Amino acid sequence: MMRLIPWCACAAVGAFLLTGHAGQLRSLTEGVYSDGQATRGETLYKAQCGECHGNAMEGTVGPPLVGDGFLSNWSGRPLAGLVDKIQKTMPFNQPGSLSRQQSTELTAYILQFGKFPAGKADLSEAALPQIVLPTVRTSAAPAAPTSAGTSLPPPEGNLAELMRAIAFPNANILFNLQLKDPGNQPKKPLASSPFDYVEWGATVYPGWLAVDQAAVALAESAPLLLTPGRKCQNGKLAPVDRADWKQYVAALVDVAKLAHRQSQARNYDAFIDISEKLNDACANCHKVYRDKGGTEGSGAARCQ
Ligand code: HEC
Ligand code: HEC
Repeated sequence: MMRLIPWCACAAVGAFLLTGHAGQLRSLTEGVYSDGQATRGETLYKAQCGECHGNAMEGTVGPPLVGDGFLSNWSGRPLAGLVDKIQKTMPFNQPGSLSRQQSTELTAYILQFGKFPAGKADLSEAALPQIVLPTVRTSAAPAAPTSAGTSLPPPEGNLAELMRAIAFPNANILFNLQLKDPGNQPKKPLASSPFDYVEWGATVYPGWLAVDQAAVALAESAPLLLTPGRKCQNGKLAPVDRADWKQYVAALVDVAKLAHRQSQARNYDAFIDISEKLNDACANCHKVYRDKGGTEGSGAARCQ
């Protein structure tokens, strides 16, 4: 008897989930939102999104929200993910300010604009995980062949994310040498509480080791600035094939290699000059491709 009861319960739950799931799967072509809902989304869109994504969703500061590029970013993913993305990260300059309902209305408007048909009922929270965006084959970013005959995977992040992830923190470790000699730094005692992985990590690879690593990171990752298919935040492809772009990347690699050699020689004095060279290597490319037409973050004119 004791064994029989849990077995019965499991079977019942399993059967329930199976029918529940299959019964609710819906296609975007069935009309999954209402016109009224999309109209409410349109009002929100014009007030809060159009300035960055364009009134025709064509993309300006932010990427397009219509067309092949957008659809391939969301290929085969449930609508719940798109609503989450909007609610948790948009508007870019004020994330977290939209309610779930508003984010769903905005999603309905994006669907309407993308020519998916309207139906009678509003798109509901319960339906979001069951409706999947169409699967499209990506043409924009094929795997890049390399000289070794292997293929690089298509990029995961946009250029700004890659910059913030690798160029920014590692360049700052090198710039910091203007303020502190890594050879003279007392080993920091481990922060007692709360435990912090970053502080702890700095005690494992302290002083010059951190400088060696930063130089290697910059030198080795600069070629990622040449990965085909990498987009900028505004949805435009980074101009990785252009001769001047390649030169800017090569100049960054050169400074990073110089930094690595001097770091390994523990040659603190060399780093005043290296800081200046590194700053130039970043700024020369930024002047042309990032900050054109205004201050940092001017957006729409980037990467052209
Ligand atoms: C200040 C500019 C700005 C505003 C305002 C803004 N966005 Fe964005 N949006 C961006 C940027 C930049 C990105 C690319 C970076 C990212 O995905 O986080 C983006 C990305 C997105 C994406 C993902 C696109 C993709 O291809 O994956 C969606 C969806 C989106 N925004 C919707 C909205 C909606 C809806 C609003 C209005 C509530 C809005 N955004 C307001 C700048 C903005
Ligand atoms: C080959 C050109 C190039 C080089 C070299 C380069 N950058 Fe960038 N960087 C860009 C572009 C273009 C953007 C804007 C990306 C976008 O909008 O998606 C950018 C964006 C950034 C951002 C994000 C801030 C923002 O306004 O979006 C940071 C931080 C950054 N770069 C730091 C650096 C540092 C530090 C270096 C040098 C170690 C460096 N970059 C070298 C082209 C370059």
